[in-house]
Amino acid sequence: MPDEVVPNGAAPPPNEPTKTKGMPNKMSLKLSHLPSKKDIKVVYPRTPSSIDPNNPPWPAFRGYHTYSFAYATMGHRLPTILGKAIDDVIETLNQESEEDRVKDLVECMERMDKLKVDLESHAKLRPVIDDGEADVALWNKEIAKFFQGKDFMNAPWLFAEAYKYRRLRECFSVSKHWRHYDVFFRQKCDTFSRSGDAVFELSTRFIEPFKHKEGMSDTEKLEAERLMFMELTQVCLWGNSTDLSLLINMTEEQIKALQSTGGENLAATEKNILGNDMARLWEVVNGLRTNTGGRVDFVLDNAGFELYCDCVYADFLIQSGLAKQVRFHGKRYPWFVSDVTKKDWNWLLNSMVYGHLFPKVSDAEMESLRRLGLRWKEYEKEGKWVYEQHPFWCTGYTYWDLHSEAPDLFLHLSKSDLVIFKGDLNHRKLTYDCAAPPSTEFDIAIGPMASAAGAPRVCSMRTIKSDVVVGLGPEGDALADKLEKEEPGWKISGKYAVVLLSEGRPGEKVRFA
Ligand code: F6P
Ligand code: MG
Repeated sequence: MPDEVVPNGAAPPPNEPTKTKGMPNKMSLKLSHLPSKKDIKVVYPRTPSSIDPNNPPWPAFRGYHTYSFAYATMGHRLPTILGKAIDDVIETLNQESEEDRVKDLVECMERMDKLKVDLESHAKLRPVIDDGEADVALWNKEIAKFFQGKDFMNAPWLFAEAYKYRRLRECFSVSKHWRHYDVFFRQKCDTFSRSGDAVFELSTRFIEPFKHKEGMSDTEKLEAERLMFMELTQVCLWGNSTDLSLLINMTEEQIKALQSTGGENLAATEKNILGNDMARLWEVVNGLRTNTGGRVDFVLDNAGFELYCDCVYADFLIQSGLAKQVRFHGKRYPWFVSDVTKKDWNWLLNSMVYGHLFPKVSDAEMESLRRLGLRWKEYEKEGKWVYEQHPFWCTGYTYWDLHSEAPDLFLHLSKSDLVIFKGDLNHRKLTYDCAAPPSTEFDIAIGPMASAAGAPRVCSMRTIKSDVVVGLGPEGDALADKLEKEEPGWKISGKYAVVLLSEGRPGEKVRFA
């Protein structure tokens, strides 16, 4: 049976034991009991027991859907990204002098070439080589259980795309000298260095710790905090539109336009937040101070400018006393081009304090960036900010499987007061990356991340850069149809966004089967 095909809503074929002459209690299977092959239709959403990584609750996006973004990504964008990554390795190779290291790097490049051929020829997905990474077993279990015989184009797009980044990792992780090499590092640093205008706009504005003007009443103070929270939520949200995997050909001017952070601009951009739970989010965050002591988790997306915006937001949460601790979750190795690794995290903080990335700016501007960086490093020392990197974040599983495949991580997140998932890929993983109707409620779309006992409050802050769109409210399907007609490409432009909140089931005892 094809992946998207299960019997329709008609009564299931009787299959309870029946008595046959001379053969008591044997199953009798009559083909006439089965619905005709052409009547077999999938009913969506699938029932929970028939959902698995190859059969999401609603139809999966797959690379072989010609004219889809999945097709464009698997067929064109990923080979281009890989080609650029090979160029990066050539640059490194040309600067290397030790023979042993040169030979080792050439072998990494040969593996990358092979991966590119596999990708372009739609090769079957083979198991990941045991390279000592913590996620090998998770990858190979998922391939064996759900993707035997599948290839780059007919496996669900999310899995196939993630698998490509895992295979890229393998090109280096089996080497002697280049285990930790990041083919995207140059690009990530470069984009931050080219984001000067927005970087200094934020650093000069937020360098002084947040405090209230003298003589303000409690109500005024609360309102000032609320306004600041709303503004910084948008700064954090739109920071996600600068994603390197999509900005391959953008000019500096275009990047600047995407990053303008001013108040007026934010008022205008709020109307592009198509599913907007920001008011509820404020109620939750405002409650943290008095309730449980405020631990907020960020499941990070991109390095450089987006990470910088996340940190500005997290800084405000700490200074205002809304949160006592912020835990940041990054990737263990280079992922989807621009995602944050520990090296990117360290690079950002150290470049802010010691770097010379912006030779043309004034001393005062440089000083604001340096002081901001020092404050953030201090938070780390004091344990107010904690950086973590669980292996599950770099697997092909969606977050519907977080509870079952990474129970330790689920338990850990269940202790948080609010888990903010940044960006498009995290949103795809939360929602199983499938064609759910845009009116689908966020709680339904994220399955066990909302419904499992002990599920934390979850917020997805994402600029829309791929097909899955949910949480647009009862009129969402009509709105999506209208946008589709008027602005084809609205789902990948990064112009629109969602900020969606699920209340989860915090405080309940987490249970595992
Ligand atoms: O290649 C497509 C994709 O996986 C989409 O999720 C998105 O366009 C991009 O890559 C990643 O975006 P983000 O960095 O926001 O997760
Ligand atoms: Mg990313």
